[in-house]
Amino acid sequence: MAKITFVQPGGASQTVEAREGDSIMQTALAHSIDGIFAECGGAMMCATCHCYIDDDRTGAASEGEQDMLECAEDEVRDTSRLSCQITVTEGLDGLIVHLPVPVE
Ligand code: FES
Repeated sequence: MAKITFVQPGGASQTVEAREGDSIMQTALAHSIDGIFAECGGAMMCATCHCYIDDDRTGAASEGEQDMLECAEDEVRDTSRLSCQITVTEGLDGLIVHLPVPVE
């Protein structure tokens, strides 16, 4: 188990227990975290699982992930990631995931 903290744009945060092997996206859905929609179910085809992670432990986004991030409706930053592409490991315990400002 790893504890993952999701932070909403307004600063509210929720720390949850994540199962190893699940993605950050699956963890968010399992805990009804606002801001992660995952319309494609993790197939890297939608960018509705966009989040910001400033933590070297998650590694770099793949080329395909970077391409899909360009389709994100929210503001894309240097720390942008697709949460479906990050697998939870014990080594990610304490990870902080920021959610984007919702697009109206
Ligand atoms: Fe669609 Fe991540 S869930 S790209």
